[in-house]
Parts: sequence; structure tokens; C-alpha cells
Amino acid sequence: MIDKKLEDAINEQIVYELYSSNTYLSVASFMEEQGLKVLNAHFLKQSEEERDHAMKFIGYLQEVNGAVRIGAIPEPPQSFKSVEDAVAKSLKQEEEVTRRINNLMSMAHDQKDYATASFLKWFVDEQVEEQASMNDLLLMVRHAGPHLLLVEDRLLKQGVKLATPGEAGA
Ligand SMILES: [Fe+2]
Ligand SMILES: [Fe+2]
Repeated sequence: MIDKKLEDAINEQIVYELYSSNTYLSVASFMEEQGLKVLNAHFLKQSEEERDHAMKFIGYLQEVNGAVRIGAIPEPPQSFKSVEDAVAKSLKQEEEVTRRINNLMSMAHDQKDYATASFLKWFVDEQVEEQASMNDLLLMVRHAGPHLLLVEDRLLKQGVKLATPGEAGA
């Protein structure tokens, strides 16, 4: 049985992953409004990944007989000043996720809950990758300046597939 405090913290993380998923939906919609279809597809895929993260936490809690409690999801950012602002906010959010995952890991270690620590290791590694790729994107956007189609070309070369809402990540 998982410790109650850790269970509560994981339930909080589930909400934060869903919040992240909604933030990326919001960012994707902003990109679509700007006519940036590849960036739209890229953020739709990020949104799906965040939902998958929430599902991973849900699956783990169930595996260890914890209780899943889905709390209220705060409203995601609604407006962005620019593409750079949207990507910078996305990077900030990833940094916050990393901080939260690290806190969960500390709690698991404090309680000598090595099963949960082992489960969390995947997220520690995932956050390194997510932060690096969001940082790359931010640098790309800054280099491109007003020529955002260059960013879109680069993302296409990196394998981002155009998707329409409802078939994100397809
Ligand atoms: Fe995540
Ligand atoms: Fe993420």
C-alpha cells in the first residue's frame, strides 16, 4: 500500500499533467490562429503526451492499490503575446513539472518507497528530454525572428506530422 501523503501528491501530479495537457491545447490553438500549422500539430502532440503522463500516474496508483482522485484542473493560459511568448511559457511549465517530479522523488526516497522511486525514474528521464526539446524550440524561434516558417520547416524535417484536431499525433 502506498503512503497517503505520497498518494495525495501523485493525485496532485495527475491534475498538473492534465493542466499541462490543456496548456498545450491552448498553445496549439494559438499557433493555428497564427497560420502555423506545423507548430499547431507539434503542440497537439505535446498535449497528448501530457495526457498519457496523467494516465501513467493513474495506472501506477491503481497498481499499488492507491485511490485515484481527479481534482479540479486550473484554467490554462489563454493568451500569448507572441509565438516566442507561448514557447517561453511552455518551457517554464516544463521546468515546473521537473520541480514537481523531483519533489515526488524526494518524498519516495524519504519513505524508502523504492517501487515508487523506480516508477518515477521514467519521469525524471522524460523531463530531461522535454526540457531540452522545448529549449531547442525556443532558441529556434528566437533565431528565426519573424521568419517562423523556417521553424516549421525544421520541425517537419524533425518528423512532426501535420494533424487535424481529433487525430492529433496521427
Ligand atoms: Fe508531463
Ligand atoms: Fe511535458
